[in-house]
Amino acid sequence: MNQDKIPLFEALTNHDRTNIRSYHVPGHKHGTADAMQENTYFQNILRIDVTELAGLDDLNDATTCIKEAQMLTAQLYNAEQSFFLVNGSTVGNLAMILSVCGENDTVLVQRNCHKSIINGLKLAGAKPVFLPTIIDEQLVLSVGIDREKAYKAIEKYPNCKALILSNPNYYGHSVALGSLIKKAHEYGIPVLVDEAHGAHFSISESFPSSAIEEGADVVVHSAHKTLPAMTMGSYLHINSKLVDQNRITTYLSMLQSSSPSYPIMASLDIARHYAATLKKQGIESLLVSTNEWKQEIEKIEQLYIALPTACVQNDPLKVTIGNKCGLSGFELQSLFESVGIFTELADPLHVLFILPLHVEINKQTIIDKIREVLQHYPIQKEKEYSVIAEQEVFAFPYSYRELGTRKREFVSFAQAINRIASQMVIPYPPGIPLILDGEIITTKKIEQLQWLIESGTRFQQEQYIKDKLIEVYK
Ligand SMILES: Cc1ncc(COP(=O)(O)O)c(C=O)c1O
Repeated sequence: MNQDKIPLFEALTNHDRTNIRSYHVPGHKHGTADAMQENTYFQNILRIDVTELAGLDDLNDATTCIKEAQMLTAQLYNAEQSFFLVNGSTVGNLAMILSVCGENDTVLVQRNCHKSIINGLKLAGAKPVFLPTIIDEQLVLSVGIDREKAYKAIEKYPNCKALILSNPNYYGHSVALGSLIKKAHEYGIPVLVDEAHGAHFSISESFPSSAIEEGADVVVHSAHKTLPAMTMGSYLHINSKLVDQNRITTYLSMLQSSSPSYPIMASLDIARHYAATLKKQGIESLLVSTNEWKQEIEKIEQLYIALPTACVQNDPLKVTIGNKCGLSGFELQSLFESVGIFTELADPLHVLFILPLHVEINKQTIIDKIREVLQHYPIQKEKEYSVIAEQEVFAFPYSYRELGTRKREFVSFAQAINRIASQMVIPYPPGIPLILDGEIITTKKIEQLQWLIESGTRFQQEQYIKDKLIEVYK
């Protein structure tokens, strides 16, 4: 196949060039509706915001240009089949989980997963066994699955329906998964990987290895996170004898819109084309640019780049920055925002930058702004912080199906100790639950929660958290 082609985008622009009059949805009629005519932000994009017209194929039954665009994606990623997703990795995670497990089925799940994984398990009614992760002492972060403990869990639960991993983490730390995937396959267990942050890994060996190359059965990518795709644009790839492709397509068509966005899908086509071009050309100049950026940051005396001490691979596009001025990560992030620099996330200690997948021009201006905004901050002792993470494999005593029928109530943090949570407590970003629905709430978890609130962490369903209330099963 010819990776120079961009079949879906080309079909859309050809359609736009013909002299067309719209008597179909969407109601903006190619942007000609009065409400949109003056809106220069929307004008161009609305010209390609169409529906399943002749020649433009149908995501839910792809036979022409969308099919070709998905096949080119599969070829680039070395997958048997790839699918375009218009509702983020979220929908990919839901579909992959629902396609392998159902009520009361045991599944092995990496604990520091995104909430969409837990929601998939809840929809399936499955019974999770959570696998611990490696905590990097220096970064105070979960950096990846603890493979040794995962091997033992596979031996202990040989009949489980799937091993569900989340790799890399939000900060770009990545564990090589090959041996773990091999072990699961020896037991006939399919391996599903949420690789939301690694859509660019297959482009070059300078990035961590991708789960697809390591032999995973299903891999989900948020193309919009690091490739030039529109928000929500994502891919799901399958390479498997253990997972039924028809079940995945059935769930995708149940969970996604019957009117998927053509701009999002076309951006996925463009993102794949861009990735293929980079793969062919090599990324040396990009790496020079990211290294220069990091070297400049390290020259600023108030800052340092926080690297993991644990043995994990590091994505060169992700830069975790700490400070020597006693500021929390949230305070540092606000300082950057005050000079127009918006970063991906902050945690109590760090700010995370995601560098672009292209050579950045004018980066010196940004570095100068960072230096300037910090110049009057004296060097001080660093904030101390510790993370509480499960060190052992823990199996839920109930399945999500059983829990779903129980009554719930809100109680204070103090009263919640030793009760079973019926909600997830989710610092956002990164969207990884601190407390899971179905988990026993310990004193340590409540202490950690208090500490995160005090340090300025944002939460989903923030009002309850601010009122120090948490929902538990009666
Ligand atoms: C690890 C991980 N998985 C899945 C998701 C959901 O991805 P999306 O926003 O593409 O739905 C996220 C979002 O941040 C994530 O960090």
